[in-house]
Amino acid sequence: MKILVIGSGGREHALAWRLARGAHEIVAAPGNPGIAQVARCVPVGVDQHDALCELAVAENVALVVVGPEAPLVAGLADKLRAKGLAVFGPGASGARLEGSKAFSKEFFARHRIPTAPFEICSTVEAANAAIERLGKVVIKADGLAAGKGVVVARDAAEAQQTVREMLEARRFGDAGKTVIVEQQIIGREVSVLALTDGKTLEVLPAVEDHKTIFDGDQGPNTGGMGTVSPAWTSEDLMTRIKHEILEPTVRGLHEDGIDYRGVLYAGVMVDAAGAPWLLEYNCRFGDPETQPIMARLVGDLGAVLLGAANGALPHGVIMSDARVAVCVVVASAGYPGTVKVGDPIRNLAPSSDDVIVFHAGTAEKDGALVTAGGRVLGVTALGVSVDQARERAYAVVDAIELPGKQVRRDIGARGR
Ligand code: GLY
Repeated sequence: MKILVIGSGGREHALAWRLARGAHEIVAAPGNPGIAQVARCVPVGVDQHDALCELAVAENVALVVVGPEAPLVAGLADKLRAKGLAVFGPGASGARLEGSKAFSKEFFARHRIPTAPFEICSTVEAANAAIERLGKVVIKADGLAAGKGVVVARDAAEAQQTVREMLEARRFGDAGKTVIVEQQIIGREVSVLALTDGKTLEVLPAVEDHKTIFDGDQGPNTGGMGTVSPAWTSEDLMTRIKHEILEPTVRGLHEDGIDYRGVLYAGVMVDAAGAPWLLEYNCRFGDPETQPIMARLVGDLGAVLLGAANGALPHGVIMSDARVAVCVVVASAGYPGTVKVGDPIRNLAPSSDDVIVFHAGTAEKDGALVTAGGRVLGVTALGVSVDQARERAYAVVDAIELPGKQVRRDIGARGR
């Protein structure tokens, strides 16, 4: 089957790599040098919706897999479906689960999905009153803010400062014209992704992300500096997450008339008593969560995604390797702030049976590999234990030469 993968990050490299292993022909738009090892890349950007529709039709692809959230929120999947294409990724109405945090929190409340108490505010006065009522809070910009729109406030002063920055100074533009003030749940976070055809779901193995730039969960948040899968979660906990969060979501979407075919990526906080609370949904695969999931996945992912896209998700087709996968992200100097692009990346080992080097922000210049973004590579290793997977990943990571290279040393070191 011919499949079009839309996107250019580590997530899309992992998806294209896994799909290509199912003997499918992959076209990627726009792709990256790593994706080009397993796909034919066509230079069409993720925001060029008309050109992407034309490409999918001209290539006569059997399936389109949309990677990033922005085109999903902007309705790309609807436009592709209007051309008669099978698409893995929700339409704009479903993508609101990620595109509007106010919409999603109201959805959780309406469908009795466990989530922290919250208030939706569009004035500083209302937000300050909510901060006083809710105690320790998280402030969230309503709209998409490139992963930077969530601030876990240390105290009321920081929360008040954050709402001023979002609502008055418009730090995130219109994405921050409404904010959610949400009570903090203290616990351990886990990413749980499920594939759905809008009626049924298949839960993928849980993943633990490491979100901040520095070791020990210090420093500003990033898109993710490394992941481990399976995560520390017990079978009982995964059953609770499925029954209390994911299944009510699929039922709720159906009741609300939203035909959701794609990934539901739940950010779940597990409190000290072991209870799962839904922090947020993303409407696409996580990055770098997808890298270890794809490294472990066994079975024909293409057939499963096509089934979901056609409203008939096959069950029991995909399984996971018993080994653990650890993904260590190599980031550019300056990330998550402003980064310089075009720096040379040297001494990159080729992928092997145990270690896959997924490309994210890379480009080719005069035949050499250079940086093209903040998160550059996701070195993903398999091992019989977390320690073995860590050792294998760090051996490749440590050999990579990149000016100002940033790597967290503690991916997978939190214990299970
Ligand atoms: N790893 C976080 C995300 O994909 O949003």
